[in-house]
Amino acid sequence: MTHSTAKPATFRPAPALRGTVRVPGDKSISHRSLMLGALAVGETRIEGLLEGEDVLATAAAMRAMGATITRDSEGAWLVSGVGVGGLLQPETALDMGNSGTSTRLLMGLITSHGITATFTGDASLSKRPMGRVTEPLGLMGADFVTSPGGRLPLTMRGLSPAVPIEYRLPVASAQVKSAILLAGLNTPGLTTVIEPVPTRDHSERMLAGFGADLTVEIDSAGARIIRVRGGAELRPQHIVVPGDPSSAAFPVVAALITPGSEIIVQNIGLNPTRAGLFSVLRDMGADLTYTNERTVGGEPVADITARHSSLTGIDVPPEIAPSMIDEFPILFVAAAFAKGVTRTSGLEELRVKESDRLSLMAQGLVRLGVRVNESEDGLIIEGSGGEQLPGDNAPPTISASLDHRIAMSFAIAGLGTQGGLIVDDMSPVATSFPIFEDMLAELGAIEPVS
Ligand code: S3P
Repeated sequence: MTHSTAKPATFRPAPALRGTVRVPGDKSISHRSLMLGALAVGETRIEGLLEGEDVLATAAAMRAMGATITRDSEGAWLVSGVGVGGLLQPETALDMGNSGTSTRLLMGLITSHGITATFTGDASLSKRPMGRVTEPLGLMGADFVTSPGGRLPLTMRGLSPAVPIEYRLPVASAQVKSAILLAGLNTPGLTTVIEPVPTRDHSERMLAGFGADLTVEIDSAGARIIRVRGGAELRPQHIVVPGDPSSAAFPVVAALITPGSEIIVQNIGLNPTRAGLFSVLRDMGADLTYTNERTVGGEPVADITARHSSLTGIDVPPEIAPSMIDEFPILFVAAAFAKGVTRTSGLEELRVKESDRLSLMAQGLVRLGVRVNESEDGLIIEGSGGEQLPGDNAPPTISASLDHRIAMSFAIAGLGTQGGLIVDDMSPVATSFPIFEDMLAELGAIEPVS
């Protein structure tokens, strides 16, 4: 899953974007549907699965541990599970590619099985911290031999029966929360996660749907207390995965910054723990409307209409960060086109994503002529007031650094940069949004990709 050849691409100022498009299925929900389907006894049917490399890494790992997973047609997959506690010893190392979510959630699952597994990943994943999961999973009884700094490659051995814990999350992380809850499925007694700052709750929703014994309570300080009692059988489900709001963010911002644009992005998941970007953009003056609002598979869904808008810089409240944690790179692009200053803070987590997103976004925007001030935990961006970004004499080459969202954010910035820009490698986009360039072509933003 590492890409041997880089795929550079040029993005130039675009005419008005027009049209109605869909984006691929939600990445978080896709991972979880494969994992829980693989633990249920019987056949789970998934529609709208994201067929990106990250999710395919999860599918391969669940197969390696005994589940039968087949593709029926585009986005439609069938999973026959092994039952809670029934995962088998994988015969070879699990290659997680670029996917932090696959790695951390699967480490949770393996924690309460008496099996040994080795995790490997690409250069980006091998730099990411795993101590945040090895610490609580170690308390449950798993053993880890990691590379220096607690990183991949690592080998772990789970414990059956594992030990239930009560764990208060030191960082707001849905991955850590989910890893512990998944470990708790096959752990006797009550496993408890206390989440002082709410993060995406797809695991809780889906676990409840599959019949896990799970409760969520809010304490007097507003913390969420999530308890799972191990041992319940999971029942196979029919899951319909909504479009990924983190992917919809790219065409939405492209339309907002490109004069004359009006687009509709259909079928987008708008779970409140994920929809922070759209409310921040509205606060900046974005003309965004939701239509056809409905509930699909326990998740709120709508079609989003986005029209070109005059954006104004704002102070983004740090409390909103968990509900748009993956959307800051594209928010920074929107801020670069706004009138006035946008200030962000409380974003130290962005430094340990697929890349150091604060530093890469600051460097790249500065190359496009934007005034950016980088602090430890955020960026302050002075926008162009809707004018095209000045760019450079020759289109500058921006490094995506194996980060799909950096690649896509600068692709969108290029649509509004005089003379355009080159993204050095678009291949990481295949992890989450394989049809990204096709979709831009459909909206008239770029020439059709051959
Ligand atoms: C994810 C949680 C987030 C997010 C990632 C997907 C998930 O990570 O950045 O892309 O599916 O649980 P953290 O939990 O590390 O914030």
